[in-house]
Amino acid sequence: PHIKVKKICCIGAGYVGGPTCTIIAAKNPDIIVTIVDINQARIDAWNSDNLPISEPGLDEVVKSCRGRNLFFSTDVDKAIHDADLIFVSVNTPTKTKGMGAGYAADLGYVESATRRIAQIARSDKIVVEKSTVPCRTAQNMRYILEANSKAGIRFDILSNPEFLAEGTAVSDLMNPDRVLIGSLKTESGRAAAASLADVYASWVARDQIITMNLWSSELSKLAANALLAQRISSINALSAICEATGADIEEVSYACGLDTRIGPKFLKASVGFGGSCFQKDILNLVYLSESLHLPEVAAYWKQVVDMNEYQKRRFSNRVISSFFNTIYGKKIAILGFAFKKDTSDTRESPAITLVNHFRTEGAQIAIYDPKVQESQIWIDLTEPGVMDDLTEVQKQVSIAKDAYAACDDADAVIICTEWDEFRDTVLDYKLIYDHMKKPAFVFDGRLILNKTRLEDMGFQVGTIGRATSGFTVPKDWE
Ligand code: UDX
Ligand code: UDX
Ligand code: ADP
Repeated sequence: PHIKVKKICCIGAGYVGGPTCTIIAAKNPDIIVTIVDINQARIDAWNSDNLPISEPGLDEVVKSCRGRNLFFSTDVDKAIHDADLIFVSVNTPTKTKGMGAGYAADLGYVESATRRIAQIARSDKIVVEKSTVPCRTAQNMRYILEANSKAGIRFDILSNPEFLAEGTAVSDLMNPDRVLIGSLKTESGRAAAASLADVYASWVARDQIITMNLWSSELSKLAANALLAQRISSINALSAICEATGADIEEVSYACGLDTRIGPKFLKASVGFGGSCFQKDILNLVYLSESLHLPEVAAYWKQVVDMNEYQKRRFSNRVISSFFNTIYGKKIAILGFAFKKDTSDTRESPAITLVNHFRTEGAQIAIYDPKVQESQIWIDLTEPGVMDDLTEVQKQVSIAKDAYAACDDADAVIICTEWDEFRDTVLDYKLIYDHMKKPAFVFDGRLILNKTRLEDMGFQVGTIGRATSGFTVPKDWE
C-alpha cells in the first residue's frame, strides 16, 4: 500500500535536476512538478526562451509542459510544503579547504536543503537524494530530518542516482539503461521506493527499474563513473605506448572492443577526460577508501586521475617539443573549449589545463568554441587564487569568432573538443593551411581528423596514440 505521488518538488535547477524533472513532468501529465532554486537568474532563464542548459531536444520538452504541470520557481518553501516527493538535486562540489580538501564532497548544500525540508514540512515526505554524493549521505540526511522534524511527520529517504551524460541528457533520460532506487529495507522504505518506481514506470520498463539497499545504490553511482573513467585512462595509457612504438591506438581499441567481454564503448583515446563527474566522483571514492582504512584501494583509483593529468601534460609537452622545446611567442589555435562536444559546459575541461600550460610557456593563444560563452572562458582561465587576473590573461589569450579566425596566422592548431564542425570533412583545412605560418602543425587530441589527408595538404600532424611521422620532406621538394 504505497502512496501515489501527485506533487513533486525538485530542489536545484541545475544540470541534473532541471532535465530530469522536466522529463518526469513530460511523462507524467497528472503529476505537478515544481523545480526550485535559490538562484533567481537561473529560474528566470528556465522560464524564458533561453534555457540555462543547452541540451539537444530539451527546449521542445520544456515548452510542451511548462505552465501545464511543470513550473520553475524560487519559492523553495512553498514547493517543499506542497510536495509529497522531493528530489534533492543541489551541487556537491569538491571541498577546497578543511578535512578532505581536494577530495571529499562539500555536502553543505545538501545539508542546508535537507534542513529546509525538515523545517518546512507539515506532512509526510519522500526525500530523494539525486545529487551525486558519497556513500552514506542518505543516512546523514535521515538524521537531519529526524532530528529536526515536527512530531508525527514521517520522512522516507531514497537514493536515486542519475546516470545522464551531458549532450545526450534528453535521450539518456527517455531511454535509460536502468533506473536505480535505493531504500531502507523497512516496510515504509520499500513503500517509498514503490511510489518513486511508479513515477518512472510511466515510460521505463519495470525490469529496468532496480531496487536495492541505500548504500549499494549510492556506491553504484560512484562505481559506474569510476569504471568508465578507468577505461579512458587505460586506453590513454596504451596511447602513450602506441606513440612510442608505431602501433595505432584506434586499431588497438577497435581490436579490444570486439571482445564482447570488453565492448567498444568508452575506449576512445583522448587528450584526457573532463566533465563535472568523473574526477570528482573518483576523488570521492579515494577519500571514502582512505577513511575506511583501505589505502591500497585508494591508491588504485587515484591512479585513474593521475593518468588523466599525465595524458594532458604529455599531449601539451608533445606540442612544445615539436617546436624544438619552445613555443614562446608562437600562436596556438585551440579548437574547442567544452569538455566534450554538444555541450557548453567547461567544467574540468582538458582545454583549460592545456591553455594554462601553453601560457606558462609564453605562447599566444586563440580559442574558438561553437557553444561556450566568452565570459565562461575568462572565468575558467582566471580561477581565483590559481591564475593571473584577466588583464594578464588577455595579454596572451584571445577568443575568436570562428575556427578560421582562430587559426589565422597560427603556428599550430589543436583539437581539444570533438565538435563535428572541426572534422576535416566539414572545416576547410586547406584554407586554414594557406593562412598559417609554416611549417603548419595540427595536433588532434580527439581523433577526429584523417591524418593522411591533412599530411597531403602539407600539415605536420600529431595525433593521440600515433607516432609522429617526423618532419616529412615537402611534396614539391626536388
Ligand atoms: C584469459 C583470457 O580470457 C583469454 O582471452 C586469453 O586468451 C587467455 O587468458 P583464461 O586465463 O583461460 O583466459 O581464463 P579467464 O576466464 O579469462 O579467467 C582468468 C582468471 O580471472 C580466472 O582465475 C578467473 O576465475 C578470473 N575471473 C574472471 C574473475 O575473477 N572474475 C571475472 O569476472 C572473470
Ligand atoms: C558522465 C557519465 O557518462 C554519466 O553517466 C554520469 O551521469 C555523469 O558523468 P559526462 O561527464 O556528461 O557523463 O560525459 P561523458 O560522455 O561520460 O564524457 C566524460 C569525459 O570523458 C569527456 O571529457 C569525454 O570527452 C571523455 N571521453 C569519453 C573520452 O575521452 N573517451 C571516451 O571514450 C569517452
Ligand atoms: P548538478 O550538476 O549536480 O545539477 P548544478 O550546480 O548544475 O549541479 O546545480 C545545482 C543547483 O542547486 C544550483 O543551481 C544551485 O543554485 C542550487 N541550490 C543549491 N543549494 C540550494 C538550496 N538550498 N535550495 C535551492 N537550490 C539550491
